[in-house]
Amino acid sequence: MSQPFRSADIRQAFINFFISKQHTPVPSSSLIPHNDPTLLFTNAGMNQFKETFLGMEPRDYTRAVTSQKCVRAGGKHNDLDNVGYTARHHTFFEMLGNFSFGDYFKQAGIAYIWEFLTADNWLAIDKTRLYVTIYHTDDEAFDIWHNEIGLPAERIIRIGDNKGTPYASDNFWTMGDTGPCGPCTEVFYDHGADIEGGLPGTPEEDGDRYIEIWNCVFMQFNRQKDGTMLPLPAPSVDTGMGLERISAIMQGVHGNYQIDLFTHLMDAAAKILGINNEQQSSLKVIADHIRAVSFLIADGVMPGNEGRGYVLRRIIRRAVRHGNKLGAESDFFYQMVAPLVAEMGTAYPELVAKQSVIENAIQKEETQFAKTLAQGLRLLATELEGLQDGDVLSGEAAFKLYDTYGFPVDLTADITRERGIRIDEAEFDEHMQAQRERARDAGKFDVDYSSVIQVETPTTFIGYEQLHDDNVNIVALYQDGKAVDSLAEGMEGVIVLDRTPFYAEGGGQVGELGEIRSASGVFEVQDTKKSGQAIIHYGVVTMGEINAKQVADAQVLSSIRSASAKNHSATHLLHAALRQVLGSDVTQKGSLVSSEVLRFDFSYDKPVSPAELSKIERLVNEQIQANAPACIENMSIDKAMDKGAMALFGEKYGSDVRVLTMGTDVIVDGKQQPFSIELCGGLHVQRTGDIGLLKITSEGGIAAGIRRIEAVTGMNAVKYIQQSEQQLSELAGQLKVKRPEVAQRVRTMSDKQRDLEKQLERLEQKIASAQAANLLDDVQTIAGTPVLISTLSGVDGKSIRTLMDDIKSKLPDSIIVLIGDKDEQLALAASVAKSVMARVKAGDIIRHLAGELGGKGGGKPDYAQGGASKGDNSVTVISALPAWLESQLG
Ligand code: SER
Repeated sequence: MSQPFRSADIRQAFINFFISKQHTPVPSSSLIPHNDPTLLFTNAGMNQFKETFLGMEPRDYTRAVTSQKCVRAGGKHNDLDNVGYTARHHTFFEMLGNFSFGDYFKQAGIAYIWEFLTADNWLAIDKTRLYVTIYHTDDEAFDIWHNEIGLPAERIIRIGDNKGTPYASDNFWTMGDTGPCGPCTEVFYDHGADIEGGLPGTPEEDGDRYIEIWNCVFMQFNRQKDGTMLPLPAPSVDTGMGLERISAIMQGVHGNYQIDLFTHLMDAAAKILGINNEQQSSLKVIADHIRAVSFLIADGVMPGNEGRGYVLRRIIRRAVRHGNKLGAESDFFYQMVAPLVAEMGTAYPELVAKQSVIENAIQKEETQFAKTLAQGLRLLATELEGLQDGDVLSGEAAFKLYDTYGFPVDLTADITRERGIRIDEAEFDEHMQAQRERARDAGKFDVDYSSVIQVETPTTFIGYEQLHDDNVNIVALYQDGKAVDSLAEGMEGVIVLDRTPFYAEGGGQVGELGEIRSASGVFEVQDTKKSGQAIIHYGVVTMGEINAKQVADAQVLSSIRSASAKNHSATHLLHAALRQVLGSDVTQKGSLVSSEVLRFDFSYDKPVSPAELSKIERLVNEQIQANAPACIENMSIDKAMDKGAMALFGEKYGSDVRVLTMGTDVIVDGKQQPFSIELCGGLHVQRTGDIGLLKITSEGGIAAGIRRIEAVTGMNAVKYIQQSEQQLSELAGQLKVKRPEVAQRVRTMSDKQRDLEKQLERLEQKIASAQAANLLDDVQTIAGTPVLISTLSGVDGKSIRTLMDDIKSKLPDSIIVLIGDKDEQLALAASVAKSVMARVKAGDIIRHLAGELGGKGGGKPDYAQGGASKGDNSVTVISALPAWLESQLG
């Protein structure tokens, strides 16, 4: 084939090459790792095959090839800080990879790499420019490179544990702290002697001359949390080559930012900003970040304050700041989406589909950040005054920027770095830690018994079928976290049974309540939780005593159970209705179901309008009216997903799952499916009609991009509506209008009140000036200085200030003290003429007066003000003021 040059052609050539070697092409997985809480973002091609390497998820192929979307920002592999400053780092990049699952190993792994890179009909790269590294003890890899490929020994570099501990090496690849890993061999390309940098393993290795282009991992181990390396079921291969790096080589340029794709993006950014593309670092940052940001939003991440959302926010803010440096005056970053779609939309159709969602989310974030950016930059400039290259900015200042202006610390670091200034990170971390502790203390309201009690005995849950069992066995009792033999009357404690009908808190549903009775006593269950494999009942002995090993009768409170079940099922209907009305980007962020209320948190970046809320409420109630059965089935996770069941990201499900289907059929994405279908382990109604009624009681934001809806069902909904009705009737009665006219009447009343307040203000000012007209008669002379001290009743601070200006002009070279007395509050103001200021200052007068009156105040030498509550001593204090002034002036 002719040599491919465009990035898109290279991507295709790679896939074709491995297809010709019997590899199955597999699409890129989402940037949000599916079912893997150990990973922030997909950061390597192998992520989607993690379980396959571990032998837990067999596939129907043993060889695969992918072009995988990756983000390395936040988390273990984090390149964010380097982007813009090196020739080769990105937040988002495409990783080309081939994989063997227990099929070929080192020999074929290396041979394929060499063939694709150097064969004339593939990339035909000049062999003399290639070097490789191997793990220091990997003689097998050495032999293959040297004897079979024919690479001279001096081009094969052994890299040991250069990061301090065993297996911590550039040539031992680990996905995270745990998971599949193994030694690797990496291929390096020499960009030529005119570029600075040294071979891997030398002190100059971080330069841009020798660039790693392809990493081939020989997957052999499953790393455990404690560092133990367990062997994988079969040795495997995982390779990864950055598309941007290989494109640079094929296009004869030395940096990734000079390849076709980045040239187009940087040109577009320059055009939007009205400048020339001179390869400024900030342009590189913008071109890089628009990719990470757009792909993340396309995959469902929204800017927020924690986790993935926070990393996304940091990336957007960093880009905005760099735009600002280049002179951007208003929102610009969102305008980069269109050029990106033009570049990458063909290979990644999700970008085209989500273009407007991405643009809106970015623009909203830009507008929000623009407000604080200018203020924050000013504060930072003040903090940086006097600091020079090599100095350190205090961690406290960086924390203040973060806390007050939302400057992520890496953004502050990015700015200080331009001036060679470092941040005191240890001090910053201390402040962050203290803040976290404050937040935690504020949220602490309950004791987590499950962490105190470590029960190993698994409990069988029988509550799906029954509320009651009179033949259960007490297997353990605890008091204050310690196992005991019995619990006496009045004692609080925990009971563990061999099986129980009590539902333990989980899946958003609170733990159940009820009673456990034995031959000798009664225990009131006040909460039920999980602790390891056991279900623990927390409560108090209300009669007699409870002994370990007794047989008992466990009874769940049925009224509470049925009310909770109504709320839980209604939560599912609400979730489905929300997605129908607001769009399928709405994802569940949390839920709480008790017998009283239901609460549902979801991602959505603006308030839900009253019209939308009422539509959502109507949809749910239509389903309730339809009285369709609520079906629970156990099935394989794959079948559930196939049926369109909703599951929570990051939640670990077993291979068999419990699926709840409810409601009449609807059409979703052109497919007919039940109104609601979700994985759930909770307790539910039998038919939707059992819910009775759903009433939304509130909607509001709880964090950036996250909304919360609260609602009630069944008799609680009836109660809520009756109360609202009653309040409205009362209001109508008080206002003497019919109920539909209440709102109009309230509007008229508040307009009238506003008019009256204005009128009152005008009158007060009139009174004040009337009083002022006579004031000049009260001027006294103290130590040769004209002094006016006057208390004006019914006058507030605002009017006092106006009056002061008025009188000052009429009384030159004097001291004026005015005291407004309104609504039991004293407003104090003092003015001292310039000629008198050397003897007494206005600030001193107010501080003295306010101090004596038990209030506060202060100001400048010529004018000061303050306030105090009126007290028994007010008159005495004010009448003693001339004497005090005399002592000061005299
Ligand atoms: N997993 C390895 C890497 O990310 C090779 O694909 O470098």
